[in-house]
Amino acid sequence: MINIGRRILRRPSLKIMQSDPVLALNGLTKSFGEINAVKDVSLVLKNGEVLALLGENGAGKTTLMNMLFGHYLPDEGSVEIFDFNGKKQQLSLGNPRSAIAAGIGMVHQHFTLAENLTALDNIMLGSEPLFNFSRKQALARGNIENIMSQSGLKVPLDIPVGQLTVGEQQRIEILKALYRDVRILVLDEPTAVLTPQEADVLFQNIGVMTQNGLSVIFISHKLREVLAFSHRLAVLRHGEKVGEMATSDANEQKIVSLMVGSQAKSKERKYVAPGNVVLSLEDLSVPGRSRRESLDAINLTVRKHEVLGIAGISGNGQTALAGAISGMIEPSSGQLILDGKTIIPGDPSITIEEGIARIPEDRHRDGIVGQMSVAENLVIENISSSTFQRHGILNWDAILERSKEICVQYDVRGPGINTEARLLSGGNIQKLILARVFESRPKLILANQPTRGLDIGAANAVAERLLVSRKKGVAIVLISEDLDEIINLSDRIMVMRDGNLSHAETFDRDTLGLLMAGEAT
Ligand SMILES: Nc1ncnc2c1ncn2[C@@H]1O[C@H](COP(=O)(O)OP(=O)(O)OP(=O)(O)O)[C@@H](O)[C@H]1O
Ligand SMILES: [Mg+2]
Repeated sequence: MINIGRRILRRPSLKIMQSDPVLALNGLTKSFGEINAVKDVSLVLKNGEVLALLGENGAGKTTLMNMLFGHYLPDEGSVEIFDFNGKKQQLSLGNPRSAIAAGIGMVHQHFTLAENLTALDNIMLGSEPLFNFSRKQALARGNIENIMSQSGLKVPLDIPVGQLTVGEQQRIEILKALYRDVRILVLDEPTAVLTPQEADVLFQNIGVMTQNGLSVIFISHKLREVLAFSHRLAVLRHGEKVGEMATSDANEQKIVSLMVGSQAKSKERKYVAPGNVVLSLEDLSVPGRSRRESLDAINLTVRKHEVLGIAGISGNGQTALAGAISGMIEPSSGQLILDGKTIIPGDPSITIEEGIARIPEDRHRDGIVGQMSVAENLVIENISSSTFQRHGILNWDAILERSKEICVQYDVRGPGINTEARLLSGGNIQKLILARVFESRPKLILANQPTRGLDIGAANAVAERLLVSRKKGVAIVLISEDLDEIINLSDRIMVMRDGNLSHAETFDRDTLGLLMAGEAT
């Protein structure tokens, strides 16, 4: 039988009250070898509630939710689910099927969509047997359209998912969970890849859904949205729950001191005179997914000791710009000149050799090789250096020793340097990539959303490292949607909109916001 998202549609007739629990985690504990990822965590989720789960990178947030969803079997503890009459049931653990049957849905930190399939197929795939799939599509379409209008989450159903924006892909992930008839929705950093505007829309939609009785746990590093959109929040530190409060009793400072023990403060940026031009783009045109995302004859220069901030709402050509500078996308015309030398376009290995280091936007796809170890990932881009190999033979002792040092220096936390990189927490993967960038002694750093997914302490550390590189003479192109980050770090700001790049003669937050939205005169 085809699942039609009944619970969402019929929710108003529930007997259950707002204050009743729908879920209780009791003493959940999970270790991976030496790492105690989650220690004795208990947590209650109430009906219609939006609960925010916070904590530093590697604090155990994803692991805790993976136990709820049955991806990991807890070492200790239990999970109870309460049905519509308030009757308690033990959830059978370590089994995603029982979690799904109990009405739990999870949207993961990293998307799991098949990019060449349409939204319709992606949404159906997890729930429907393949038998008679195409005949069921018509019925499913109607049901999905219903869910879209009830939840406010709208997406085109017939376009391959790879051609949609990240915001649309995020909505599809949520629709996929709703289609399975969820009562409890877990969202792991749902807004990490969204623009602030998209994030607000998402939370408005969540508000609608919770009024229909859905209960939500969301993980986030963005305190603004936690304070604006959650009812209650819980904080994890080193795997333990260290605090829990009504959001109305919380403020930024309270949360940060619970998360890290003290408030981290970033250093002041000091003036350094810019030096020679390191990179210039001359009349560069680069194809993008749409006209808005393509570059048409843009010009840009960045000098030694200089941070050039590129402000803009993503989807306005940033991907094409970053792709061209890093050699991943071949420009259709124009030149890229590094240190006076024209770079042959479209070859990433040449750009690395020439001294361009990049912090990629999609760190899972472009930043690491998940199946390779942390150590291998750390040295991958300078494996040919004489420290790490001689006559074609790798010096593993040197690689491992250096990797250990780098992990300490850059605070890459996890189960160890021999673990597969994909097993690090989301933020620690980002720290690994950053360590590699800073260690490669580049002439230019292309930093694309460098602090996305990082906790506050780690984000400050990255800002400081970028400024240290700037002081040493590195030129930095900083692409970010985070206006505060752009304003705090940049020496010069350009605004990107509809594939055009223009100089902003201001550091004023509001004026920049208007320029980004195309509303300034
Ligand atoms: N399958 C696994 N094998 C080994 N270690 C793991 C595994 N999954 C998670 N870990 C480790 O458990 C710890 C907690 O990771 P988790 O992903 O839960 O952190 P997080 O709070 O979600 O962090 P982030 O904010 O960076 O996403 C980390 O040290 C991580 O490397
Ligand atoms: Mg995580």
